[in-house]
Amino acid sequence: MTVLRSVIKGVGSALPEKILTNAEIAARVETNDEWITQRTGIKQRHVAAEGEKTSDLATKAAQAALAHAGLDISAIDAIIVATTTPDETFPATATRVQMNLGMTRGFAFDVQAVCSGFIYALTVADQMIKGGLVRKALVIGAETMSRLLDWNDRTTCILFGDGAGAVVLQAESGKGDTTDRGILSSHLFSDGRQHDLLYVNGGPSTSTNVGSIKMQGREVFRHAVDHMADVVLHALGSNNMSVTDLDWLVPHQANLRILNATAEKLSMPMEKVVVTVDKHGNTSAASIPLAIASAVKEGKFKPGQLLVLEALGGGFTWGAVLLRW
Ligand code: UT7
Repeated sequence: MTVLRSVIKGVGSALPEKILTNAEIAARVETNDEWITQRTGIKQRHVAAEGEKTSDLATKAAQAALAHAGLDISAIDAIIVATTTPDETFPATATRVQMNLGMTRGFAFDVQAVCSGFIYALTVADQMIKGGLVRKALVIGAETMSRLLDWNDRTTCILFGDGAGAVVLQAESGKGDTTDRGILSSHLFSDGRQHDLLYVNGGPSTSTNVGSIKMQGREVFRHAVDHMADVVLHALGSNNMSVTDLDWLVPHQANLRILNATAEKLSMPMEKVVVTVDKHGNTSAASIPLAIASAVKEGKFKPGQLLVLEALGGGFTWGAVLLRW
């Protein structure tokens, strides 16, 4: 039986020029490079310049992904931007990206699932491709998390960074089994009861201000380690596969200790885990496409290899996408 598969044809990324080191943060709040490195694995993060918007980073990443795919914007049917730091409360940042790219047809919208945003956006695009609504889509994760930080709160301001990553997804026909290239399955979850562990204390219908990130770090850490391992096993099990079938784990980059613990729970060597948290910090919805772009640049993924992308974020939301490169 022939089925439609969503295949990644191009990847791109964009990072703000300004790099903020741990030492620079230590000059502002009571912390130090040793603590941040030991507890998080983060050495630096990129921070948007004044006036540099989420849509600017998203546009640059999209342009790079289009160039990598060898496609013109006129070929794209839809743009989906996963972001928790939109330019404005409305309209969707994706429509600004659409304008920046010179796209005058199709449609563009945002998806909000915080750090799981890219997994959710990829799933939405995949379903639209499978349903026949879209042939080619730009799926972007873009964030300016620095705008949501309380720079006096040492428990959060050390963690986050800004950036964007993008992929071009294209419909291709497959056989309908797990040897197909492209997205094999997606698995989404959320649990609104966990709201208070990780949220922003602002928004249009509450404070009317943007607010800043509030997090119970230790609790989030505990849930992250549980879900990040479980969701990978769930994705593999749903396809009658096991961890030994997996070539690469591309997790949301929140904390190196979470990545280590997840790999350990899965009995996966860290050599198979894509790690960028040391350079980017936690870029929320941008972290997975940034990690993909970085791995592609390093020539890590080979055609036919099996990847799991996975994330957990505020909500809680979490999920995984299993795909063959
Ligand atoms: O994208 C998903 C969302 N986020 C996450 O996944 C983050 C999950 N959580 C974490 O990554 C970790 O919990 C943190 C990195 C946030 C914190 O690490 P931890 O090992 O859980 O530390 P802790 O919160 O238990 O704090 C330990 C100590 C505390 O001091 P006392 O009470 O033991 O005296 C904190 O006050 O470390 C102190 N501390 C710091 N010290 C130096 C907290 N932040 C800092 C800091 N520098 N920046």
